[in-house]
Amino acid sequence: MRIDILSAVPELLNSPFEHSIMKRAQERGLLEIKAHSLRKWAINKHGQIDDYQYGGGAGMVMMCEPLANAIDELQKENGKYDEIIFVTPDGKRFEQKDANTLSLKNNILIICGHYKGIDQRIRDIYVTQELSIGDYVLSGGELAAAVIIDAVGRIIPGVLNDETSALTDSFQDNLLAPPVYSRPAVFRDKEVPAVLLTGDPKKVDAWRQEQAMERTKTRRPDLLK
Ligand code: ADE
Repeated sequence: MRIDILSAVPELLNSPFEHSIMKRAQERGLLEIKAHSLRKWAINKHGQIDDYQYGGGAGMVMMCEPLANAIDELQKENGKYDEIIFVTPDGKRFEQKDANTLSLKNNILIICGHYKGIDQRIRDIYVTQELSIGDYVLSGGELAAAVIIDAVGRIIPGVLNDETSALTDSFQDNLLAPPVYSRPAVFRDKEVPAVLLTGDPKKVDAWRQEQAMERTKTRRPDLLK
């Protein structure tokens, strides 16, 4: 899978994909991530990509031409994108099921907004999905893009070593994950639940299921509706 990102501050996207699972996904050739500076398609030599908004009001708007030229050029190079995603607080809330669906695509472009956002006509003409990572406003879309790419990248088939481990993540079955324990068996007088030491996979599974249900009931009852 290939993910291109268009950003006014692509430097923000360097580190998140250089470690751990995202690094491994790229090393295995399962994921290719490229962040492009929108300034490459600026309208003048001053690197301008934004302008005042029609109708007045505070805040600049990212202009049509740099974005349209960037998208056209990238599509010419890489073929038509399966999805062109704009990350924005007024988008649809990004959830695990969106990550699952996106993980099966071949190539995606993510557009990061800044300032007041991007000219509506780019959204109308090019964008196929608008996603928000939560009900709060970030100073730009880059961290939201990083969150989405991480959530998608880790579940691309072949990325996780233990193929079953993504299946037991929180949200995969609308349940939060149960508590987990490692050595030592006793820490500051607190013992690991005895059932986990029985070596009986049926009992362990039943306990985990029950704990997952209990956690979901108390913390996220909305998931059970
Ligand atoms: N850009 C700024 N805030 C955002 C959010 N909450 N989700 C996605 N993109 C954003």
